[in-house]
Amino acid sequence: MLKKMIEEIEEITKLAQQEIKEVKNQDLLEKWRIKFLGRKSILSKLFSTISNLSIEEKKEIGKKLNETKNLLVQLYEETKKKIEKVKTKYNFTFPGKPFSIGKLHIITKVIDEIVQIFYKMGFGVAEGPEIETDYYNFTALNTPEEHPARDIWDTFYIKKEKGILLRTHTSPVQIRVMGKYKPPLRIIAPGKCFRRDAFDSSHSPVFHQIEGLMVDKDIKFTHLKGVLSYFLQEFFKEEIKIIFSPSYFPFTEPSAEVSISCVICNGRGCSTCGNTGFLEILGCGMVHPNVFRIVGYDPEVYTGFAFGMGVERLAMLKYEIDDIRYFYLNNLKFLGQF
Ligand code: PHE
Repeated sequence: MLKKMIEEIEEITKLAQQEIKEVKNQDLLEKWRIKFLGRKSILSKLFSTISNLSIEEKKEIGKKLNETKNLLVQLYEETKKKIEKVKTKYNFTFPGKPFSIGKLHIITKVIDEIVQIFYKMGFGVAEGPEIETDYYNFTALNTPEEHPARDIWDTFYIKKEKGILLRTHTSPVQIRVMGKYKPPLRIIAPGKCFRRDAFDSSHSPVFHQIEGLMVDKDIKFTHLKGVLSYFLQEFFKEEIKIIFSPSYFPFTEPSAEVSISCVICNGRGCSTCGNTGFLEILGCGMVHPNVFRIVGYDPEVYTGFAFGMGVERLAMLKYEIDDIRYFYLNNLKFLGQF
């Protein structure tokens, strides 16, 4: 009887020592306590059987039982402390640290939106360098040196004597694409442009354009009108009036400017449209035969149209933003709205 009890006590001790190793939180610790130290635990039962023993046996088992109980209580206290320490290190009840999620810039989003609309009409995307040569930015676009039209674009030169400059428009991409591929062609080219302009509510020395070019046999001005009208309706998603008026660019003939009824005042007249009810948003025209000759296309066989639009301008109208500088100031409160 005595031997059996001692064996039992030792077994419980071992088991309790083993199981406490797995105890990692308060819940498990409480379960462990009930199992090994609770009123219904084996240890408690052994304590209650003591009275049936002889005095000698009582002494021995009593001592053993008390030692075991003390050991288990000690294990319990130590583990409890450990758990509390972890809890203060990782207090899961503390509020989390807020972090902001990155987003695409509104200009990038508007470019993507425009590209998607042209994708539907079969246009692919082309790109060209921001640092250009005089040849691609002007000469090949039918604007040789001393041509008065060069004054339309106030140019930033990097090395004037070598003709290296920051492109003033995305039109040089037309030349690069036509120099590389044969017609038929249908591309748009988004990108940054640079002009020696003031930095005020409606001007910025750096801005974005999207160039468009379509070349094939029998392309007519009506195709240009159709493509641009479809694009503008899709982009503004509301009924707008579109006006084509005569204009001049050295690389298109005839040339036109496109204005839309002011999306701010619906054509009634306001400060954004200078009380005219209309806003000019892009330049366009039929590709000049000289441009075709320069890139080696036969102007007797092929015709085409081109256009260039300001991305910031379109974004300002669509999202009713009244100052172009907001796009570049990296104010997260502004940018976070889109
Ligand atoms: N490149 C012209 C500009 O920036 C716009 C344009 C592009 C006009 C293509 C006609 C054809 O002013």
